Amino acid sequence: MQPLKLFFDCDTGIDDALALGYLLAEKEKVEIVGIGSVCGNTDAASGARNTLNLLSLAGAEGIPVAQGNAGHLCAAFHNSSQHIHGENGIGDVILADSPHPLAAGSAAELLVDLARKYPGELQVLATGPLTNLACALQLEPGLGQLLGQVTLMGGAANAPGNRTPVAEANIAEDPEAAGIVFSALDNLVMVPLDVTMQQLFEEHHHRQLLNAERPFARALGEMLTLYMGFYQQKLGRNVCAIHDPAAAFFAVQGLEGCVAPKVKVVIDDTRGPGRGQTICDLRGQYSGFPPQENANCRVVLNTDKDLAPLLIEKLLNV
Ligand code: BDR
Ligand code: CA
Repeated sequence: MQPLKLFFDCDTGIDDALALGYLLAEKEKVEIVGIGSVCGNTDAASGARNTLNLLSLAGAEGIPVAQGNAGHLCAAFHNSSQHIHGENGIGDVILADSPHPLAAGSAAELLVDLARKYPGELQVLATGPLTNLACALQLEPGLGQLLGQVTLMGGAANAPGNRTPVAEANIAEDPEAAGIVFSALDNLVMVPLDVTMQQLFEEHHHRQLLNAERPFARALGEMLTLYMGFYQQKLGRNVCAIHDPAAAFFAVQGLEGCVAPKVKVVIDDTRGPGRGQTICDLRGQYSGFPPQENANCRVVLNTDKDLAPLLIEKLLNV
């Protein structure tokens, strides 16, 4: 089987770095044909630089990395995640500078170019705010017909939010962009907090990475030190949620063993207390989720998999 062609849109970001590592480890199943950076965990320029440096560390040069806009669709970007992802976005771990330049053009332009180059074939994994996807839709309104599945880490279906009582950070950062994406596309897979907060890296996984032979895995371990410190304050023990790597896993492996009904999801982009909420029509849960008219998104509510050991095994080999 041919590897799936993937555009990876990310705000690297500690767990974005883990997701990237997982994708690189699955090279027989996935070919990353382009990467976009978006502001979220850090600004888009730092996210792009982090991504380029990680690619160099993994010896995976040659994948074009394009930078996203300096702000979100309707608002300037203010970084509020330094306490989670560090000053530089990757837990203040210093990586060697990649000798490779950024791709010409914006992240949205790269996505549109690749979608036209691989019509019907290109899939997207978005692990940051949806700004670049929304900009790409503005550049190419027919993007929905060109793209295959679009998997995103974001949202909260039945779970509480992590940025506000109802909103998850990636959606809350740019609700207008998310609104455009969820209105325009109907082949979405959303990996929300409902599933990602149930999947944890424990301290022994952290140690496995810190003690790894390969420098990429060791760097991930060093990044996790800060990330797990954040979750220690939230959850009372030294663990961290597996957000972006879970979305990467499902993008590559599919949704076998998941409860993931296809339903209508709309984004609250109003200025009220619901801003950033992913409103999922889960009324079908009482009748086995019958097919729903206008359904646009498979919402991953849970999985029978324990993702941590599966991911660590892969990450140790990048
Ligand atoms: C999401 O927000 C970011 O902090 C993480 O990288 C992840 O994509 C979790 O809400
Ligand atoms: Ca992210």
